[in-house]
Amino acid sequence: MTAGETAVAVAHPNIALIKYWGKRDERLVLPVTDSLSLTLDVFPTTTAVRLDPDAAEDHVVMDGVLARGEALRRATAFLGLVRERAGRRERAVVDTRNTVPVGAGLASSASGFAALALAAAHAYGLPGDAEELSRLARRGSGSAARSVFGGFVVWHAGDPDAPDPDRASYAQPVTDARLDAALVAVVLDEGPKPVSSREAMRRTVATSPLYRDWVTGSRTDLARMRAALRAGDMATVGAISERNALGMHATMEAARPAVRYRTADTDAVLGHVRRLRAEGLGAWATMDAGPNVKVLCASADAERVAARMREVTDARVVVARGGPGARLRRVTT
Ligand code: PMV
Repeated sequence: MTAGETAVAVAHPNIALIKYWGKRDERLVLPVTDSLSLTLDVFPTTTAVRLDPDAAEDHVVMDGVLARGEALRRATAFLGLVRERAGRRERAVVDTRNTVPVGAGLASSASGFAALALAAAHAYGLPGDAEELSRLARRGSGSAARSVFGGFVVWHAGDPDAPDPDRASYAQPVTDARLDAALVAVVLDEGPKPVSSREAMRRTVATSPLYRDWVTGSRTDLARMRAALRAGDMATVGAISERNALGMHATMEAARPAVRYRTADTDAVLGHVRRLRAEGLGAWATMDAGPNVKVLCASADAERVAARMREVTDARVVVARGGPGARLRRVTT
């Protein structure tokens, strides 16, 4: 692209059913375990990137507000990586708009860095296929590697002994899944989280006595889930997802000092999900680095599950289904 042109990319958040929790390499953002997610059809992030040859610094606007502090540092570090790979020096003007609450465990960093990776790679003329884009997005935020693709996606941790561990860790679509699933998001709190996922992971890996067991269990969970996705077995996919998420929260609650994202409201929603199941409605809970709950169910049951959740909470309830991967929307001069 030449100076003055703007690349605009759109990406959607994803919710992991087998979670990513813990890095084995902080700088390269290499995870300890493989993870598996569903990219959503709601809450997209739209990011525009334009190169400015006259600027001395990157200029980043997020939801209409000039970024500063940690958010600016992360975006600038990421743009620096793209420049280094592209062999370019121009600074960028970035305008990003989220429709997902930022920092509340609803994966704004996943859609954010997937959209930024695609728009910036295009603006700086960085070549590469979608797998390469997922490696790049990973460096911004691990879960962003998965938002490059639509539907069910697996992110390979990669072999730690591979000659190039960076190349070995990328996401891919799960092409043999035969399940039409939905996630009903119960948005209890839209505010930023008290502890960043980065810090919470670090603390869990370093101090939680439960972490090793969760890692071992996660490997078995992934193999079983892939088989259940192939078989279209909603109940098994649901049970594994709920167990994996509760296990992840248990590991961090056992860290020192403990990290607790769950609140009394979270626990009340979890109880309600169990009651729906006892009544015969297929619904399973998953939670990320925040108090919000996403209820996994068959797509055909999503409106019924959402209606039942609205009976017991005033929180915003949003039905999400499988959505698309990151894509370039336009390039304008
Ligand atoms: O990509 P990060 O650093 O925001 O980590 C997100 C981790 C979880 O959302 C809690 C789990 C996951 O796999 O998305």
